[in-house]
Amino acid sequence: MEVNGKQSPEKYAVVTGANKGIGLETVRQLASQGVTVVLTARDEKRGIDATSSLHKMGLTSVVFHQLDVLDPISIESLANFIRDRFGRLDILVNNAGASGVVVDEARLRALNIDPETWLSGKAINMIQEVIKTTYEKAEECLNTNYFGVRRVTEALLPLLQLSTSGARIVNVSSLRSELRRIRSEELRNELNDIETLNEEKLEAILKRFLHDLKEHRLEAGGWSLMLPTYSISKATLNAYTRVLAKRYPNMLINCVHPGYVNTDLNWHTGPMTVEEGARGPVKCALLPNGGPTGYYYDQTEVAGF
Ligand SMILES: NC(=O)c1ccc[n+]([C@@H]2O[C@H](COP(=O)([O-])OP(=O)(O)OC[C@H]3O[C@@H](n4cnc5c(N)ncnc54)[C@H](OP(=O)(O)O)[C@@H]3O)[C@@H](O)[C@H]2O)c1
Repeated sequence: MEVNGKQSPEKYAVVTGANKGIGLETVRQLASQGVTVVLTARDEKRGIDATSSLHKMGLTSVVFHQLDVLDPISIESLANFIRDRFGRLDILVNNAGASGVVVDEARLRALNIDPETWLSGKAINMIQEVIKTTYEKAEECLNTNYFGVRRVTEALLPLLQLSTSGARIVNVSSLRSELRRIRSEELRNELNDIETLNEEKLEAILKRFLHDLKEHRLEAGGWSLMLPTYSISKATLNAYTRVLAKRYPNMLINCVHPGYVNTDLNWHTGPMTVEEGARGPVKCALLPNGGPTGYYYDQTEVAGF
């Protein structure tokens, strides 16, 4: 990799959930900038196909490794692969995500909700019949978006600490995480109390959420009512980002809302392209030394939590 005519050390990156969507495009953009990227996917065939599509574009430094963020054995196997092949890691992009709902896609499309209504949360009454939160999907969503990120990060931290250029962790979040969207002031304060926050407190919040979901008391509990599980999964992910940033001051650790992007995750309701959506994650992955840490980015700009 050459910067201002000087050869800079090779950088190694991992992107999770990278067989499609924003993850695949993040791999493409990082590899185009000279980073050696491990493209990971839970499904081997989908991952290998995605990797070959990048090889065909000339991005031959991209390598594939299987990773299911729900499976500790798969995570350990990835960590071993990186240690044996590269000896360290410079960039981790936690991108894999789940929506936490069951959707009737045809009926959702027929509603033809415009992006402004969707993003503001005003669509909440329109979608009641077509987007359903089930307990099973909620557990899967929290397990992927919060606990999955924690598992992968904890397994790769020893390799990130060996980075010679300064490690970067990028947690792909969502505007649904924003504290102003949470109805309970107490919960907002809890999630914003960076001095006392830790993993135990975040787990307790998620346990409380699942309890309220089971008891049909999300409204009384003050949770977001628009995509409630997804929202709290990303709000706790942001809080975890801040906990980590405080704990590892030698790294740059941030979370980023990629924008409202046309992907499978939102049933292709988003107007932005994946090229536009990957810009924020790529910017956070390549921040210069001394850059921001413990921040939330709305696409490519720092924003309030
Ligand atoms: N699109 C948007 O407008 C938007 C807005 C805000 C935030 N985001 C965030 O952006 C990230 C990427 O989403 P996307 O929009 O690009 O959606 P996408 O195209 O549906 O990609 C999601 C990726 O996550 C993977 N994944 C799900 N569960 C996994 C697991 N257990 N282990 C490993 N990988 C897993 C999927 O793999 P499979 O193909 O095997 O299912 C897929 O590769 C997510 O974190 C999402 O929350 C997206």
